[in-house]
This record gives sequence, C-alpha cells and structure tokens, in this order.
Amino acid sequence: MEYINARARRLKPSETLAVKAKATELKAKGIPVIDLSTGEPDIDTPEHIKEGARKALKDGKTKYTDVMGIKELREAIALKLKRENGIEAEVSTVIVTNGGKQALQSAFEVTLEPGDEVVIPAPYWVSYIPMVEIPGGKPVIARSSPENGFKLSVKELEAALTPRTKAVIINSPSNPTGAAYTQAELSAFADVLARTNAFIISDEIYEKVVYGDFKFVSTVQAMPQLKDRIVTINGFSKAYSMTGWRVGYATGPKDVIAAMGRLQSQTTSNVCSIAQYAALAALTGPQDAIPQMVKNFDRRLNAALGIIEQTPGLRVMGKPQGAFYLFIRFAELAKNSKSEVVKSSGALVNFLLERAGVAAVPGEAFGDDQAFRISVAAADEQVIGGLEKIRDAVRTLL
Ligand SMILES: Cc1ncc(COP(=O)(O)O)c(C=O)c1O
Repeated sequence: MEYINARARRLKPSETLAVKAKATELKAKGIPVIDLSTGEPDIDTPEHIKEGARKALKDGKTKYTDVMGIKELREAIALKLKRENGIEAEVSTVIVTNGGKQALQSAFEVTLEPGDEVVIPAPYWVSYIPMVEIPGGKPVIARSSPENGFKLSVKELEAALTPRTKAVIINSPSNPTGAAYTQAELSAFADVLARTNAFIISDEIYEKVVYGDFKFVSTVQAMPQLKDRIVTINGFSKAYSMTGWRVGYATGPKDVIAAMGRLQSQTTSNVCSIAQYAALAALTGPQDAIPQMVKNFDRRLNAALGIIEQTPGLRVMGKPQGAFYLFIRFAELAKNSKSEVVKSSGALVNFLLERAGVAAVPGEAFGDDQAFRISVAAADEQVIGGLEKIRDAVRTLL
C-alpha cells in the first residue's frame, strides 16, 4: 500500500538545504569545507532584537496571539509599508507568517485552482516551483537571458502569458542572480500585465540588500494602476539576520489576505509570540546594522568578482544590484573542457566540494544547468579563500 500521495512523491527536498546538509556531513567527518551555499546573513541577530524577545518572555507573552499577528507588529509593518514602499496597507490587510516562505505558499494555496498557470521568471528561487505545484498550479517558466543580466524583458514576459495565467511572480532583487528591476522596468511590465487578469506576487525579501546607487522600488509603487492585484511578500530573515526566528509577512487585496488568515487559523495558527515581539523590536529599533551588513557583502562581492575574472571558463553577468549571491555561469568551461564534471551543474558542484572543499549550489536548482550559486554571506577570508580554491580547481579542468 502506497500511503504517500502523488503530489508528495513528486516533492523534492529544497536543493539549497540539501547542499548545506552535505557540507555539514563532511565537516562532521573532519573534512574542512568552506560553505558558500548558505542563504543567510553571517552576522548575529542584532542585540536590541534579542532584547525584544527576552522582554516578551519576561512579560509572559507566551500564549496564542491573534492568528494574523500581534496588533503592534501589524501596525508597525503597515507603517513601514507606507513610509518606505508607498503601499497604503491597512492593518487588516497585513498578515504575519512563518517566514516569507509561508506567506508565499499560503498565497498560492488560497488562489490557485488546479491547472492555473503561474509565470516564474528564470533563474528562479528554488521553492517557487514546488510551491505552485503543491496546490495543483502549473509553473510556466519565463526565461531571461544572461546577456540582459538575467532581467526579464517585456517580450519574454509577454511570451509566457496565456489566457490561463493566474499569477506572475516578481522577485526583485533576485535570488539567485541579484538582478533587480528599476521603476521604469517594472512600469513597462505593468503595461503588459494591465491587459491580462493576472495577479502579481512580489517577493521583496532582499529589498534592503542593494548596492551602489541602485534604488529599490516596490512593485506596488511602480505599478499603481495594478495595486489591487498585487500581493507583496517580505520578511525579517535577510534584512535583520533573523532566519531562524521565522517571521515574514504579506499584504495585498483584502480577500486574499483574509483567506490566508483562514488557512493559517486552521493550520499553523500564529507565528511564535516571542519571535513576533523580536520582529517588532527589529522594525522599531535602530536600523544601522543593515548598511554595515550590506557594506560587508559589497566588499566581498567585489573581491569575488575579481577572482572570477581571473578564472577562464567562469563568468558573472555583471555585478548584482542586490541580494548576497553570485550566479556564476560555466558555459564556456563546458564548451572547452573535456571533463565529465562540466556536463551538469550538479556534477560540477560535487567536483568543487570534493576537489576544492567548497560548497556551492547547482544552478539546476534555479533553472540553469550551466551555472552555480555562491553566497557572500560568509567571512571575507572564506569568500576569497573559497573562490581561489574554485579558481584553482576549475583550471585543472581545462
Ligand atoms: C527569494 C526568496 N524568497 C523568500 C525566501 C524566504 O525566506 P524566509 O522564509 O526565511 O522569510 C527566501 C529565502 O531564502 C528567498 O531567497
């Protein structure tokens, strides 16, 4: 008797978490590994945020909260959305979730009918496809070109739209490429999307991690004419180094957020009460840890890009505008090397782990089998040392 249903049988574990598990296993055996696979900031959660949690514990804030989140946090989020993102969210249209991940999953769960199409720009974050498939949705991949810095063009977006398109995902800045859209680029998408009934899921989790003079713009702000069909997703994991606390949020059309609340009430209930108070401290407290963290990422990105430039066969399509990853293409290596390990990103990443002792994530997980992703959310010497090891290992393949 097979008890596992077909949907769950198709479900693969998250590739990024799988690489991390393999690196941890090697480390446990005493094999040194430089882990550049991870998707979380390397700094500790700032002290005033931890203090928010300690105070909540001391004050006995240890009981069920409102399913949608504590009022103070929802108010602080609504205020932040208004001030920073030009989103006029009412508190009733803000839901606090177990990370941005649950917000995304829940938004798909309450909107998709079996067979509904969701346009996912590639390269994409690993979880979008399973998240769409779990409720029976059909992912439609819109390929961006490396030459365009992995930004989807209006034409590429148009080509992916059909009468069955229910939703379109926008993830800016993007994991894994770091590509981010300007106001003008988003506004050009709006002209196309206005001719459809598609709603938009805007994953803005890397909003605070942007470089140089790039100015982050929320999708709602860039597409005011479509604001009633945009669900904005964000969270505390990346901006406040709070990955383990599991606090995210969504805002959007009243009926969608209310449905997400009903789902949450029947499944997970509220987010951990203590973590919610910590998130409140994050939003209302000093923000100076963010620019410092971004400065660190920026310095490491520059150093890493310098080493990649010296590595024949590897290429990055320009410096990322945001997030803390480098999506490194090896198309040229694949063309010029006779080695078996350049035939797929999985094989190359395995080679890098075994030969160079560096953990990266295969591009296949993001929809590009001729690339791999490294993170710069590790100490400078790890990023630099790791890339030098990658460079030396790659040179042996030519
Ligand atoms: C693009 C993107 N969206 C959403 C998330 C979810 O983050 P969390 O659930 O920790 O808020 C991540 C985490 O890696 C991400 O990279």
